[in-house]
Amino acid sequence: MHVNGKHYRTIWVNGNNKKVIRVIDQRWLPHRFIVEDLHSLDEMITAIREMHVRGAGLIGAAAGYGMYLATLEAPEDNLAGRFMEDAREKLKASRPTAVNLSWAVEIQLQAIKTGKTVQEKISIAYKTAGDIAEMDVDYCKRIGEHGVTIIKELSRQKGGETVNILTHCNAGWLGMVDWGTATAPVYAAIEKGINVHVWVDETRPRNQGASLTAWELKQQGVPHTVIADNAGGHLMQHGMVDMVIVGTDRTTSTGDVANKIGTYLKALAARDNNVPFYVALPSSSIDWQIQDGMKEIPIEEREPDEVRYIEGLCDGEIKRVLLTPEDSRAANYAFDVTPARLVTGLITERGICKPDRQGLLELFPERKL
Ligand code: MRU
Repeated sequence: MHVNGKHYRTIWVNGNNKKVIRVIDQRWLPHRFIVEDLHSLDEMITAIREMHVRGAGLIGAAAGYGMYLATLEAPEDNLAGRFMEDAREKLKASRPTAVNLSWAVEIQLQAIKTGKTVQEKISIAYKTAGDIAEMDVDYCKRIGEHGVTIIKELSRQKGGETVNILTHCNAGWLGMVDWGTATAPVYAAIEKGINVHVWVDETRPRNQGASLTAWELKQQGVPHTVIADNAGGHLMQHGMVDMVIVGTDRTTSTGDVANKIGTYLKALAARDNNVPFYVALPSSSIDWQIQDGMKEIPIEEREPDEVRYIEGLCDGEIKRVLLTPEDSRAANYAFDVTPARLVTGLITERGICKPDRQGLLELFPERKL
């Protein structure tokens, strides 16, 4: 997508030095646009854990490149062995909820094992990391093509009036490699000249909606309004939301959806107000091994200080201020699980399906046991 009119992806290889991976450091958005160079597995792990890069698809692509950087550091006699397995475990532990991370490292580990020489293994890891990123771009583009059919139909029903879409967190191109998941149908609608407007949940505590989704929608010229997290239910009660589209960090084979904390409450409000609630996801976000999202999806708990403090621009500088009483404790659950029964449909790269095992298997028959 575009940043000040120039095309960017969220992660790429430095054209002058293939041993350096470049990312948009999202901690500084929307106030500063900073590109960070990552030189090692440890730097990649820090970038993922500290959320310089975040969002399910981007975490997967970053992990793919992390494995490539690990091959550059691995002792020659142990390239497919202990060192790479440790790299896999360290990457997996950096953010536990998004399944794209383990999806990417497993693909890498299997691919690297097929190389016979050290150089061959490095080349394979480099190519595979690129393939993982390309796959993400392709999946998201196709999610847009399928998802836009729903927006088109809502627009038809409203006689061409603006379709109001509510989204939570950042499931945009900044959270993937390009296009995004929830935003891909929105960008496709804009390309088709359909009138859309996006309600952007601010998404406490890290404010991915207010700082990232709002920024990227503005960059692409999409009409949008940032709202406090608690406003969605009120807007739905007053007919101001035609549909909800969110992304996911892990969806079970039965359609339970883990996404940024607060998603579940939006799904409850949507159900109570007959507002369709869609989840846009690439198949790399489906965990085919598990069935019960509430019991089986690991929910990341992050630093309480992310809740206690808030960051923003003040007199031209980015500052962090304390929100709570000095000695109040805070808890920071980063994700929640929306049960499949509250989800209208899953928008995948292969089409739209019901949020259940049968629906998913119709689109992905190769997953049948
Ligand atoms: O904690 P984050 O910013 O990595 O969480 C991101 C989300 O929850 C997104 O909605 C999700 O990854 C969906 S698709 C990018």
